[in-house]
Amino acid sequence: TLPDHVTIYEVGARDGLQNESTVVPVEVKAEFLQRLARTGLRVLEATSFVHPRWVPQLADAADLLRRMVRVDGIDYPVLVPNERGLDRALAAGVRHIAIFASATETFAKRNLNRTLDEQFDMFAPVVGRALARGLRVRGYVSMCFGDPWEGAVAPHQVAEVGRRLVEMGCHQLSLGDTIGTGTPGHVNAVLDACVAGGVPIRQLAVHFHDTYGQALANTLAALRHGVTTVDASAGGLGGCPYAESATGNLATEDLVWMLDGLGIRHGVDLDALVATSTWMAHHLGRPSPSRVVRALGGP
Ligand code: HMG
Ligand code: MG
Repeated sequence: TLPDHVTIYEVGARDGLQNESTVVPVEVKAEFLQRLARTGLRVLEATSFVHPRWVPQLADAADLLRRMVRVDGIDYPVLVPNERGLDRALAAGVRHIAIFASATETFAKRNLNRTLDEQFDMFAPVVGRALARGLRVRGYVSMCFGDPWEGAVAPHQVAEVGRRLVEMGCHQLSLGDTIGTGTPGHVNAVLDACVAGGVPIRQLAVHFHDTYGQALANTLAALRHGVTTVDASAGGLGGCPYAESATGNLATEDLVWMLDGLGIRHGVDLDALVATSTWMAHHLGRPSPSRVVRALGGP
């Protein structure tokens, strides 16, 4: 069976832009978020409070949050890796944060400069302080379906990292296929392991990168499994600068097209979204990788 309704967690302004080598002006980012807000999307991940040297593209996080018009009823989560990031996010008036863990030792080191165990010591005070202030905390797990340095990643290892994040107090767990190598059978295995490990299916979200063209098939497998929150990036922008061979996320337009065909409600105006991604593609100076944007969008 399939769900009646899916919540699209839009990551274009964060995951989509973080890998762009040329810094996008802060006004363009603010307008991007404003345009996305008008498409009917209700969750817009806005930016990251990570170290500005690690992700220079998002060094303007505080400035962006000052400038952007926050629309009532829209949730604007931001990434926060540590207490310094939390301080900055709190100062900017953020109400929803996302911590991001790694399922593997190598990526924990490369993305967070921590061992697998040390990452939890970094997150624990962040989650504790955020919850005490009434913020909501999402937890990402990266490299759930394979790691470019370590190869295969055991589903039980993903489940164990995920369980620790949920025990800390994350309301939702987003399972990342950071390098896009997963396939639908693998999605079933990872979701089964997480549920068996104690994370209820309603708390699970999926985050697929489309490197190998599997993101949509993987999403359908997750929907059949009972997942109702799907991460996607307008126009298929994206990638992680610390993960070799990571390309764009599942394009939100491709997701919307499939959900429409399946009769699953999502609340998004596809034409407005395509127009937004086409506008952004002009700014970035290259066409959107999304098949649906290319099929429906103008020149
Ligand atoms: P570190 O070098 O170990 O940091 O980096 P530290 O704790 O040793 O601190 C060193 C200095 O940095 C200190 O300054 C801190 O104050 C400062 P000093 O006292 O020396 O003057 N500092 C900061 N400044 C501003 N904001 C901060 C901050 N933190 C420390 N937040 C750190 C550790 C976690 C900071 C670093 O590794 C980092 O920023 N990593 C982020 C990498 C990243 O953003 N990757 C992309 C996002 S993850 C992703 O894309 C995957 C996802 O999409 C899911 C999927 O696809 O799988 C979510
Ligand atoms: Mg990602």
